[in-house]
Amino acid sequence: MALAGSSNLTSIPSHYAFTTTTPGDQAIHADLDDSIPVIDFSLLSSSNPDQRSKAVFDLAKACQDWGVFMLINHGVPENQMKATVDALKGFFDLTEEEKNEFQGKHVLDPIRYGTSFKASVDKVFLWRDFLKMTVHPKFHCPPKPEGLSKVLAEYCGEVRKLARELLKGISESLGLEPGYVDKTMDMDSSLQILAANLYPPCPQPELAMGLPSHSDYGLLTILMQNDIGGLQVHHGGKWVKVDPIPNALVVNNGDQLEIMSNGRYKSVLHRAAVNNKATRISIPFNTGPSSDTVVVPAEQLVDGEHNQATNILMTYKDYMEFKQSRVLDKGSSLNQVKI
Ligand code: OGA
Ligand code: NI
Repeated sequence: MALAGSSNLTSIPSHYAFTTTTPGDQAIHADLDDSIPVIDFSLLSSSNPDQRSKAVFDLAKACQDWGVFMLINHGVPENQMKATVDALKGFFDLTEEEKNEFQGKHVLDPIRYGTSFKASVDKVFLWRDFLKMTVHPKFHCPPKPEGLSKVLAEYCGEVRKLARELLKGISESLGLEPGYVDKTMDMDSSLQILAANLYPPCPQPELAMGLPSHSDYGLLTILMQNDIGGLQVHHGGKWVKVDPIPNALVVNNGDQLEIMSNGRYKSVLHRAAVNNKATRISIPFNTGPSSDTVVVPAEQLVDGEHNQATNILMTYKDYMEFKQSRVLDKGSSLNQVKI
């Protein structure tokens, strides 16, 4: 049963209650002197070399110290962002019967609608419904509601350009050629997944979980959200709340970036909490390399004993499948496949 449309509960059904929350697990607001970095995309694309190198330096610091940053002045028009959120809300407003046509069976199916994580096997249910679509190299989208496909194709086009520029800046920030990722990872065929997470108000938010701690499998995730907070990132041994900045996007490192950077840019653990006031929607765009790429550490970042290569030697497709086939509460799965 999906959560969308089930708004009159006064307590949560018992199969949504997490019993493993440990004291000290409470999330905090970031310190004023160590807050989530903000990257101004307009400086990264500036023709002024001083501005650009400052932006590349800031990017290095953000990816290394936090693994997550807010992206402002990114150029994605505000009305397009709003149209994307509205169109995806429209999908969740379809009847259960209509939505169920898009229940994928396999983790690599191009369109998958569902609730929780894998409702058929989850022991504790997550307080979210989701829709996931492979949007590149081939674009997939449910044909309803009308207009969804056009809006998403446009949004993905914009975010795809952003991702590519960011990956150039990130390559440069590691002392590599700006085109390093583009060339070595076959980005013309990069595997990209757009998801939408719907977190309706929850009568007992402290007992339920939107998404437990995990890292993302790709290179980078670029997340848009409505103005309701819930995302938390693990930083300095604590869970830190990511307060939404209007119109900003949230970008985080994924597992493949950790491998490519030989551990310098760690994929950040994050999770989503729920609240009892308003429906939150988050729309992560996940970009990886092409599905057949085996990501390896950049040679320049491997130097002798102190910086041994961290390798998993799996195609991206196999890694995704491996990661999605596991339960979603073990944090970073990279540790289990490192060789
Ligand atoms: C995800 C994710 C966070 C959020 O879908 O992988 O981390 O805020 N979402 O919904
Ligand atoms: Ni995630």
